[in-house]
Amino acid sequence: MKVTVFGIGYVGLVHAAVLATAGHQVCCVDTNEEKIARLKQGQVPFYEPGLEPLVRDNLAEGRLIFTTDAAEGVAFSNLQFIAVGTPSCTDGSADLRYVLDVASTIANLMEQHQIVICRSTVPVGTNEQVAHRMEQILFERNRRDLTFDVASNPEFLKQGSAVADASKPDRIIVGTRNAHTLEVLRDLYAFSNRNHEKMIVMDVRSAELTKYAANSMLATKISFMNEMANLAEKLGADIEAVRKGIGSDQRIGYDFIYPGIGYGGSCFPKDVQALIQIAESCGLDAKVLKAITQRNQEQKRFMLDKISAYFDGKLKGRTFALWGLSFKPNTDDMREAPSRVLMEALWEAGAIVQAYDPQAMEEAQRLYGHREDLVLCGTKETALRDADALIICTEWKAFHAPDFDLILNKLKTPVLFDGRNLFEPEKMRREGITYYCVGRLTESAQ
Ligand SMILES: NC(=O)c1ccc[n+]([C@@H]2O[C@H](COP(=O)([O-])OP(=O)(O)OC[C@H]3O[C@@H](n4cnc5c(N)ncnc54)[C@H](O)[C@@H]3O)[C@@H](O)[C@H]2O)c1
Repeated sequence: MKVTVFGIGYVGLVHAAVLATAGHQVCCVDTNEEKIARLKQGQVPFYEPGLEPLVRDNLAEGRLIFTTDAAEGVAFSNLQFIAVGTPSCTDGSADLRYVLDVASTIANLMEQHQIVICRSTVPVGTNEQVAHRMEQILFERNRRDLTFDVASNPEFLKQGSAVADASKPDRIIVGTRNAHTLEVLRDLYAFSNRNHEKMIVMDVRSAELTKYAANSMLATKISFMNEMANLAEKLGADIEAVRKGIGSDQRIGYDFIYPGIGYGGSCFPKDVQALIQIAESCGLDAKVLKAITQRNQEQKRFMLDKISAYFDGKLKGRTFALWGLSFKPNTDDMREAPSRVLMEALWEAGAIVQAYDPQAMEEAQRLYGHREDLVLCGTKETALRDADALIICTEWKAFHAPDFDLILNKLKTPVLFDGRNLFEPEKMRREGITYYCVGRLTESAQ
């Protein structure tokens, strides 16, 4: 089948590459000329495991086309995906500018029946707004002979395992009551339905809400667990034991109940915030969602309080080694990353940060390259040199089994602030390292 995807970011590019791998012909449209120029050379502008080979192969075999020309994209197919960003407005609501721009573009350029699929995460009622905008434009063009359908098909991939998630999705949510659109989408996704039916069909509004509800539920699990970790620490309990104890209950499960220094990324913070706004717009006070956000904001400062207490509030002139800049492992994305809150607070207090990340160094350079109090280090070992302490912000695999002798030798003081609970407190004691983590029984927590 022929498909067009508008918005070639994390979601659009992975979606396009996976569809092309299944044999579809995909035209990828983005307004960012530099991005499209790089993609035409087979270069993926961000880090996502397994994505670049897929892009290169499909590009070479002519199943992926990249363009900035919207007219080419609209004429290419009669199935148009919208996968542009929906960032937060200042009040927390989702900014629909880019989604509606694409809707306008399609309506202005279409010359045949179009199925428009919203893949971006959008508030309930957005698909109706897209349809309304398109109707208006077709009316102005005096082309009411042209027909279209708008359907919702939200994306559920996770950065870091996006290719695998999109290739073998747990579910494909489709919001439509249109039999033809449904048939087209069944054909499109036939490759992922072979093992069993993944498609869950519902009305458009429910599909839109499903995406926000899923992200908010996951954020809830994390914030709840962080609150339990803080409580465990106060009570002299061990959150790791509690985690295993509750995870064994099938109704709770082991996934997404790791305590830490808060969630980040481009989705959870913005989507929970947008859902709060959606609730408010219909007169509902989303008390649970507000609490989740507040706990997360406080949790990002959790280690800072421990660091400050350890050094008696005297952080000025100190140097901190920091491992892990991305908001989670296997991505170079630093949007809303806990590392940023921590670094910015340390700089505010007059400290210097020596940072290392396996993939996010370029992004850190782009965001903070101008700062003299940030030293970006080529290896995790060089980041340790003469630092007053080591801080771990992201649970990259490369940090799970470090050389503890080297840590002891290179740090000025053998103290480790671990925001991801990577190590056993007992082992750290044996290694001679003063260890702080989240919600565990450590000598330092007592
Ligand atoms: N990143 C994730 O993990 C993830 C997961 C699920 C859903 N989502 C949702 O998917 C959507 C896209 O997210 P993303 O992370 O891919 O965003 P992104 O910022 O990485 O990419 C968006 C792209 O859209 C392009 N764009 C903007 N206006 C355009 C236009 N008029 N025509 C063509 N291209 C245009 C931008 O240049 C950019 O390349 C958001 O709604 C997001 O909430 C994201």
